[in-house]
Amino acid sequence: MHFSRSAKNVCIGVVVFLISIWFLWTLKRIKNFEIGDMKIAHKQPQTTWSNTSNFTILFYAYPSYFNAKYIVFDKCKYTNCKVTTDKKVFTKSDAVIFHHNEMSTSPNKLNGQIWIFASLESPYNTYKTFRNDAFKMKFDWTMTYRKDSEVFAPYGFVRKQLYIPKKNYTSIFLNKTRNIAWVVSHCQTISKRELYVKELSKYIDVDIYGACGKPCSSTSAEECKKLLSKTYKFYLSFENSLCKDYLTEKITTMYMHNMSFIPIVRGAPNPGDHLPQNTYISTSDFKSPQNLAAFLKKIGTNETRYISYLKEKNKYLFHTDPNFQSGMCDICYHLNVRQQKPKTKNLTKWLWENQCQEPKDIPS
Ligand SMILES: *[C@@H]1O[C@H](CO)[C@@H](O)[C@H](O)[C@H]1NC(C)=O
Ligand SMILES: *[C@@H]1O[C@H](CO)[C@@H](O)[C@H](O)[C@H]1NC(C)=O
Ligand SMILES: *[C@@H]1O[C@H](CO)[C@@H](O)[C@H](O)[C@H]1NC(C)=O
Ligand SMILES: *[C@@H]1O[C@H](CO)[C@@H](O)[C@H](O)[C@H]1NC(C)=O
Ligand SMILES: *[C@@H]1O[C@H](CO)[C@@H](O)[C@H](O)[C@H]1NC(C)=O
Ligand SMILES: *[C@@H]1O[C@H](CO)[C@@H](O)[C@H](O)[C@H]1NC(C)=O
Ligand SMILES: *[C@@H]1O[C@H](CO)[C@@H](O)[C@H](O)[C@H]1NC(C)=O
Repeated sequence: MHFSRSAKNVCIGVVVFLISIWFLWTLKRIKNFEIGDMKIAHKQPQTTWSNTSNFTILFYAYPSYFNAKYIVFDKCKYTNCKVTTDKKVFTKSDAVIFHHNEMSTSPNKLNGQIWIFASLESPYNTYKTFRNDAFKMKFDWTMTYRKDSEVFAPYGFVRKQLYIPKKNYTSIFLNKTRNIAWVVSHCQTISKRELYVKELSKYIDVDIYGACGKPCSSTSAEECKKLLSKTYKFYLSFENSLCKDYLTEKITTMYMHNMSFIPIVRGAPNPGDHLPQNTYISTSDFKSPQNLAAFLKKIGTNETRYISYLKEKNKYLFHTDPNFQSGMCDICYHLNVRQQKPKTKNLTKWLWENQCQEPKDIPS
């Protein structure tokens, strides 16, 4: 009896103790919530990151067109970063970027430093300029056109536009008296696009401009294409390699104002992951150049079908990002949220594994 009564007391004691703990914990949570809300309410732009550390990003081997001066972080999710190309701050840098083409000698990597491999080229073109073996196992992150890069840095962004210019599509269509235009300056490529075009031109007219064809009378390649788009129905956005995600300015500039072609894409086998539906034609949907030509003839002579592509394409607009601005925002984001020590990758493997294919669409 006596024993069981004391056990009962102990039980009550334990319960009271647990309730008190729960009560105190809840109080603390409520208090934290209040503090959190107040912080948000009084958030000042310059103090959002005042209690975290600042990060330095060094673009160690940078392409000539890069200018650190124009990189700003005030519109990024995290603003506590700065970018420099001054190699003297190497030892104080949290992240160090190497653009494939400018890499020569490797500095000694510091413990905890994050090294980033940067390239907008397909591995065929990267590899040629990737001279130093010492680099290959030193990279933690990549900044490339590939969607699986830590830092996705495409040639440009194709975005929906809110103001869609009105056009007389009938008039645009009636002015088009020619079939396919192609402006090209590298005449022999890994993708063998030149052979594809040779085959295609057996079945439909293709006019070639640029270094591999007739001169194009204009100041810039873009202006030249805009001019051609007044009279040509289609444009060949053919890449030099057939690698996953590899789509360059050859296709993205087709989403500029007044570029009134239907683009025909040959490059990445997955253009649908990057480009809006019904705005382009992909060679990967056709068994052979001959099949493609038959389809183009059908589209090109049916006004309704033809202009449906142009109308859809005009809902989008191309935005360039030539200075890696969005990439720098991403790097800053990753520096802030990372939790584990980064693991270096085998770059050779990363560049090549399941990425590129040989052309299989050219009849021999
Ligand atoms: C920033 O402040 C929060 C809340 O006061 C604190 O939890 C966090 O540890 C601080 N971060 C750093 C890096 O000092
Ligand atoms: C980060 O940089 C800002 C602006 O230069 C400065 O005001 C702030 O004190 C720095 N914070 C730390 C933790 O170094
Ligand atoms: C569009 O262009 C066609 C052909 O030039 C013309 O007949 C028609 O009147 C124009 N439509 C408008 C709305 O301007
Ligand atoms: C069609 O061509 C005519 C004659 O060259 C030109 O005046 C007109 O502006 C063109 N229409 C369009 C939509 O480009
Ligand atoms: C597109 O072409 C039209 C007619 O030629 C012109 O008025 C307009 O300014 C052009 N827009 C751009 C962004 O080039
Ligand atoms: C043009 O295409 C539309 C839509 O696919 C179709 O309904 C129409 O019959 C076609 N016109 C011609 C002349 O083939
Ligand atoms: C990196 O990957 C390549 C290709 O998969 C392989 O040949 C090479 O041995 C790997 N290197 C290292 C250091 O693991």
